Amino acid sequence: MVALSGEIKEVFNKTKVMPMATASKSGVPNVAPMASIQLIADDTVWIMDNYMVKTLENLKENPVVALYFYDQETKRCFQVKGDTEIKTSGADYEKFRDQVKAKGHKYPAKSLIVIKITDVFECTPGKEAGKKVL
Ligand SMILES: Cc1cc2nc3c(=O)[nH]c(=O)nc-3n(C[C@H](O)[C@H](O)[C@H](O)COP(=O)(O)O)c2cc1C
Repeated sequence: MVALSGEIKEVFNKTKVMPMATASKSGVPNVAPMASIQLIADDTVWIMDNYMVKTLENLKENPVVALYFYDQETKRCFQVKGDTEIKTSGADYEKFRDQVKAKGHKYPAKSLIVIKITDVFECTPGKEAGKKVL
């Protein structure tokens, strides 16, 4: 696992919506926007499954994910990859469910996707693009 810090963490926390990429076992890609996202620890991201369909199906058969986050002001961009676990009960699920429901009762808060960060790459255009930073 790798821990976010400094600028990477700042850009993550500033980003309101992140594209979440998954793939089926046979390699069919999928990407969907996600906003119920929290960096709960430096190496762990929580995402609430409110309306996931293909994303959830993919995670059940291939539990890896990629996200990117981009800061319009500084133009910095980072990609994160990680391993996931799906939780539909327990203290972590209940904590995030209550937090999401406090924002709006309409959110179904079906399951918590826990992402353990395994890699971070630079996606800022330029000579560092694509380089593994963590
Ligand atoms: C700005 C925005 C934020 C969203 N945030 C979430 C989210 O945090 N959790 C979620 O389950 N769906 C969220 N959605 C809805 C999913 O992206 C949408 O249901 C999508 O169709 C799911 O795709 P899938 O079938 O590929 O899983 C959001 C949609 C938008 C446009």
